[in-house]
Amino acid sequence: MSDAAPGVAIRAVAARVVHAVRTRGRTLDDALGEYEATVSLRDRPLLRALAFGTVRWWLRLAACTQVLLTRPLRPRDAILADLLAVGLFQLIYLRIPARAAVHATVAATAVLERPHARGLVNALLRRFQREGESLLAGLDTQAAVRHACPDWLVAQLEADWPEHHEALLVAANAAPPMWLRVNRRLGERDAYLERLRAAGLEATRHPEAPEALCLAEPTDVERLPGWAQGAVSVQDAAAQLAAGLLAPGPGHRVLDACAAPGGKTAHLLETTPDLAEMVALDISASRLAELEHGLARLNLRSSVLCGDARDPQDWWDGRPFDRILLDAPCSATGVIRRHPDIKLLRQVSDLDALAVLQADMLEALWGLLAPGGRLLYATCSVLRRENQAQIVAFLQRHPEAALVPGNGSISAPGRQIMTGETNMDGFYYACLQHSSMTS
Ligand SMILES: C[S@@+](CC[C@H](N)C(=O)[O-])C[C@H]1O[C@@H](n2cnc3c(N)ncnc32)[C@H](O)[C@@H]1O
Repeated sequence: MSDAAPGVAIRAVAARVVHAVRTRGRTLDDALGEYEATVSLRDRPLLRALAFGTVRWWLRLAACTQVLLTRPLRPRDAILADLLAVGLFQLIYLRIPARAAVHATVAATAVLERPHARGLVNALLRRFQREGESLLAGLDTQAAVRHACPDWLVAQLEADWPEHHEALLVAANAAPPMWLRVNRRLGERDAYLERLRAAGLEATRHPEAPEALCLAEPTDVERLPGWAQGAVSVQDAAAQLAAGLLAPGPGHRVLDACAAPGGKTAHLLETTPDLAEMVALDISASRLAELEHGLARLNLRSSVLCGDARDPQDWWDGRPFDRILLDAPCSATGVIRRHPDIKLLRQVSDLDALAVLQADMLEALWGLLAPGGRLLYATCSVLRRENQAQIVAFLQRHPEAALVPGNGSISAPGRQIMTGETNMDGFYYACLQHSSMTS
C-alpha cells in the first residue's frame, strides 16, 4: 500500500491498470487482479469504476488529451496519458465533486513517481473544466470519438448494419445488466423471484429465456439467496438461449466444444438431467479449472477434456454426438458493454484469424454428429463475417447440411441478437442438422 491518501492512491492505481491494458495487452480483469491488492477492500469499487470507465471511454478521453497537450508526452512519461484520462473521466462521467477529483488526480503524479508533472496535470484538467464542453462538441462530430470506438469497428458496424450501427455503438457503452439463471433442478424461476424479493432484490423475467431474471441493480453474488448451494448462476439472457436452441433430449450424448468457463455446459445439465453424457472440451486448461469449479458449486457432472476442437483425432473416442454446441472464439463485439477492453485489445487483423479458426472448427465438428444430430453454432459477435457469412459459406460447402426449421433462411441464416435487444448481450445462433434427417 502507498502512503498517499486513499483517494490519491486509487487514481494512481487506476492509471496503472489502464496503462497495463493499453500497453501490455492485459485484459481489465487481469490488470485489476495484478494491482487491486494495493487498494483496500472498501476502495475497490471506486478503483473498478475508474478503470472500467476510463478504458470504456479511452478513445474519447485520449482525443481530448491530444488537443489539450501543448506538446507530446515523453515516452518515459507515457503513464501520464493514463492518469490524465482517469482525471478527465471523472470530470465528464462521474458525480465526484470536480475539485476533489482534480486534487486527487494531480497528487497521484507523486505516487506514480512523476512529481515534475504536477503542474501539467493540474493545468490540463483545469483547462478542461473551462473549455471541455466546446472541445467535446467539436470532437464528437466523429463517430469514433463520440462512441470511443476504434475506427475499424465503426466502419465494420456501418457496413454490416447500416440502419442499426448507431444503436449498436450506443448499446456497447451502456451499463450492462446483471442476469441470473435460476437452477431449474432446485426450483422454479418464480419461486426464486420471491426469494429475491424477500432479500430486498428486485428482478424481472425475460420473455424468451425461461430461467432468466434481470436484477434491477447488480449486486455481489454472495447476497443472492442460495448462491453457495447452487440455486442460481450469473449468465446473460442471450447466452441462456443456447440450451433451448440445442434442445438436447434424454439419453443424448452432448459435446460442448468450446466449453470453458462452463456457463452453457451447466445450463444444459440443469435443464436436461438425464443426458447419456456431457463432454466439455476446451483448449485452455486454466479455463477448464474454472468450469470444474463452477460445476462443483452446482453439483453437476460432466466429462472434461482439454484439447483442440479442430483436431478431434487427439481427443475423440469415435462415438458420435447427438448434439454439439460450438460457442466459438470470436471478436466478442456483442459483449463490449461488459468488457470495454475489447475496444483497445482487438485489432481488425484478428478477424481474419478468427474467421479461419471458426470455419476450421465447424468443419472438424460436423463430422462428429450422429445421424439426425444437431450442431448449434454460437458467437457473442455482431459482425456478419463471423456469423451469417460463416454459416452461408458452410451451407455452400455442405449441401447435406440444413438450418433447423425456423432458424432463418439460406441467404439470411440464424438469429442475430443485437446488443441491448430485450436487455441482452449481442449474440448469434445458427442451428444446423443433416438435411436428410430430423431429430
Ligand atoms: C466464447 S468462449 C466459451 C464460453 C463458454 N461456452 C461458456 O458459455 O461459458 C470460447 C472458448 O473457446 C476456447 N477455445 C479457443 N480455441 C479453441 C480450440 N481451438 N479448441 C477448443 N477450445 C478453444 C477458449 O479457451 C474459450 O474458453
